[in-house]
Amino acid sequence: MVMIHKLPLLLLLPITATAAMAFGQNCTRRCSNIDVPYPFGIEPDCYRDGFDLSCNETESKLYLGNIEVIDIDVLNGQARVYKRISWDCNNSVLTPKHTIPMNLTGWPFTFSDTRNKFTAIGCDTIALFVGATNNSYSTGCVSICNKNTTFSDGSCSGAGCCQTSILPGLQYFNITFSSFNGHKDNSWDNPCSFAFLVDGSWYSFRTTDLNETDFYDRNDGRVPMVLDWSIGDDVGCEEAPQNLTSYACRSNNSFCLNATNGIGYLCNCSSGYQGNPYVEGGCEDINECDYPNNYTCHGLCTNLPGNYSCACPQGTRWDPFLSACHSYSSSSSESSSFIFLHDSSPF
Ligand SMILES: *[C@@H]1O[C@H](CO)[C@@H](O)[C@H](O)[C@H]1NC(C)=O
Ligand SMILES: *[C@@H]1O[C@H](CO)[C@@H](O)[C@H](O)[C@H]1NC(C)=O
Ligand SMILES: *[C@@H]1O[C@H](CO)[C@@H](O)[C@H](O)[C@H]1NC(C)=O
Ligand SMILES: *[C@@H]1O[C@H](CO)[C@@H](O)[C@H](O)[C@H]1NC(C)=O
Ligand SMILES: *[C@@H]1O[C@H](CO)[C@@H](O)[C@H](O)[C@H]1NC(C)=O
Ligand SMILES: *[C@@H]1O[C@H](CO)[C@@H](O)[C@H](O)[C@H]1NC(C)=O
Ligand SMILES: *[C@@H]1O[C@H](CO)[C@@H](O)[C@H](O)[C@H]1NC(C)=O
Ligand SMILES: *[C@@H]1O[C@H](CO)[C@@H](O)[C@H](O)[C@H]1NC(C)=O
Ligand SMILES: *[C@@H]1O[C@H](CO)[C@@H](O)[C@H](O)[C@H]1NC(C)=O
Ligand SMILES: *[C@@H]1O[C@H](CO)[C@@H](O)[C@H](O)[C@H]1NC(C)=O
Ligand SMILES: *[C@@H]1O[C@H](CO)[C@@H](O)[C@H](O)[C@H]1NC(C)=O
Ligand SMILES: *[C@@H]1O[C@H](CO)[C@@H](O)[C@H](O)[C@H]1NC(C)=O
Repeated sequence: MVMIHKLPLLLLLPITATAAMAFGQNCTRRCSNIDVPYPFGIEPDCYRDGFDLSCNETESKLYLGNIEVIDIDVLNGQARVYKRISWDCNNSVLTPKHTIPMNLTGWPFTFSDTRNKFTAIGCDTIALFVGATNNSYSTGCVSICNKNTTFSDGSCSGAGCCQTSILPGLQYFNITFSSFNGHKDNSWDNPCSFAFLVDGSWYSFRTTDLNETDFYDRNDGRVPMVLDWSIGDDVGCEEAPQNLTSYACRSNNSFCLNATNGIGYLCNCSSGYQGNPYVEGGCEDINECDYPNNYTCHGLCTNLPGNYSCACPQGTRWDPFLSACHSYSSSSSESSSFIFLHDSSPF
């Protein structure tokens, strides 16, 4: 009995010769320890428009414009970058105010609304995330505390730390601060408010973050943030495949999916394939039999293009996708044993 696991229908797309121009031969695909997968690239002809990075070899750092890149996730259309934190202090070793707006307008990047949290730290802190210059969108949070407050590490609920989520699709933000008492209540010796948009899974509040030098030094004045990217061109998956010159899903066995944050689309490998869908031949067949923990087979596993089969050895039967095959019972008739003797199977 051979069973083919039912996997979603594969979307096979024809690829034309023009695809080659998008992918140079001598491209740097690593900067320091960071992978630089297409559509990103460093040299001309090595990236898609909007995805050009630079590698500073003396610093061992990768940059998108002047933004330092931590890593790139091709399949989820995300990249992590560092952003300097903003602050507002009264009577601190830090300068009184520091805030640099971030503007991605014109680039195929947006601030990830699913991965980032707008976060503020302080004890007399009103922090505003200004997401558009025409006052069409702002959000923010408030944190109030003093010496008598019961703080809890890991909790960001207004006692020393507050957090809120942001709208999808944003490409610009600035941060502004306000306070109730101008940080005058120094009973806590907490003269600063900090605020930043941060990878929510990375940041966890510690009470010691209320000491401004501790917090600044722990983070080197910056935090990781997640950017969503997409193949822009103002089109989604309905129109994009109609122009094979510009269509980004180059690999056979790849497919298009609309971006969920902002405009455009992303590519991914069809089920049963893995690799880089933006590159011709990038999605390679997964040999499912090499990953028994991911692809169950309690019998004889055979790899197939985009799929695998799993069969019970001769002389046994069961559903090998579910559990081990069973031998025919010894009480089975002589005639069926005879058939097995003529079988070439090693079992
Ligand atoms: C790639 O680089 C090598 C060595 O630098 C050079 O000889 C070769 O011509 C280059 N190939 C292309 C296609 O640019
Ligand atoms: C690389 O970084 C160093 C140190 O910050 C700087 O002096 C240099 O100009 C940078 N190089 C390039 C090509 O940007
Ligand atoms: C953001 O950048 C775009 C393009 O460079 C520019 O047109 C726009 O004015 C900038 N916005 C702000 C608020 O600086
Ligand atoms: C305000 O700016 C946002 C983002 O730049 C834009 O989408 C919106 O149309 C603008 N609204 C007005 C009233 O100008
Ligand atoms: C803390 O609590 C004590 C006792 O209740 C009180 O005397 C003191 O004023 C409080 N301090 C602050 C800063 O609220
Ligand atoms: C950003 O916010 C600061 C206040 O925190 C303000 O001084 C500055 O003018 C703002 N920048 C822009 C471009 O709006
Ligand atoms: C800073 O704090 C001092 C008291 O420590 C207070 O007199 C002053 O008004 C505060 N400054 C601002 C700008 O709030
Ligand atoms: C803040 O931390 C620094 C360095 O750890 C320490 O020297 C300083 O005394 C701390 N300040 C307060 C108010 O605890
Ligand atoms: C993808 O986005 C386009 C617009 O860019 C829209 O017309 C289309 O319905 C979307 N498709 C899906 C499956 O959401
Ligand atoms: C297809 O895309 C290419 C590259 O972006 C562009 O030059 C060309 O005009 C497009 N063709 C059509 C029919 O839109
Ligand atoms: C992609 O598929 C087409 C049609 O099945 C085939 O002719 C072509 O060789 C494949 N390209 C690659 C890179 O595997
Ligand atoms: C197998 O599963 C692990 C854990 O879920 C995952 O990290 C890995 O990418 C999977 N490998 C394949 C080839 O699917």
